[in-house]
Amino acid sequence: MAKKEVPAARPANINAQPRLHQHAREIQAYGTVSHALPLELEEPVRLEMTEQLNLLLADTMTLRDLYKKSHWQVAGPTFYQLHLLFDKHYDEQVEIVDEIAERIQLLGGVSLSMAADVAETTRIARPPRGREEVPVQISRLLDAHQIIIGHCRQLARRASELGDDGTNDLVVSDVLRANELQVWFLSEHLVDVPLVHAEEPEVRKAG
Ligand SMILES: [Fe+2]
Repeated sequence: MAKKEVPAARPANINAQPRLHQHAREIQAYGTVSHALPLELEEPVRLEMTEQLNLLLADTMTLRDLYKKSHWQVAGPTFYQLHLLFDKHYDEQVEIVDEIAERIQLLGGVSLSMAADVAETTRIARPPRGREEVPVQISRLLDAHQIIIGHCRQLARRASELGDDGTNDLVVSDVLRANELQVWFLSEHLVDVPLVHAEEPEVRKAG
């Protein structure tokens, strides 16, 4: 005769009610790296790289948001093309933010994520809440790109010196190259060329 299956005893504390409003201590403090990762990168290297990458992350998140602000608030005869361009650059910065943040986690660190922490950390000047004209919007974006590009060049060199080739590659191939391209697309909008009438050369007076 087959043995009768006896259901496993349930722990008495299982309950269908969701357990809301739970709190506990952090599992890792910001500014630390976890110790034992088989990456062949020493802890001091990972500490320095994650600190620098968090600065780059804060600036990139700020630039990302500056693009959305510009996308929403742009005005004038170039509205449509700039509305689309700003959103394209926004989408590209969203990807970059994710890559930087995940590199920080991969190195054993903790990524910045919330707006208040980003605002305290970024080196990019805070814009006003109101709308600004197109040349000012573009200038703000270019200033932000310049800060990021300058930091990328320093950080890439330092990562290479320390043997962190993965960070060097991310910073050069994904962050620097994309920012350089976006700078080109933006800055061409600040070239003052005539829209309809070509400027004729001045006619010299005879005599
Ligand atoms: Fe939109």
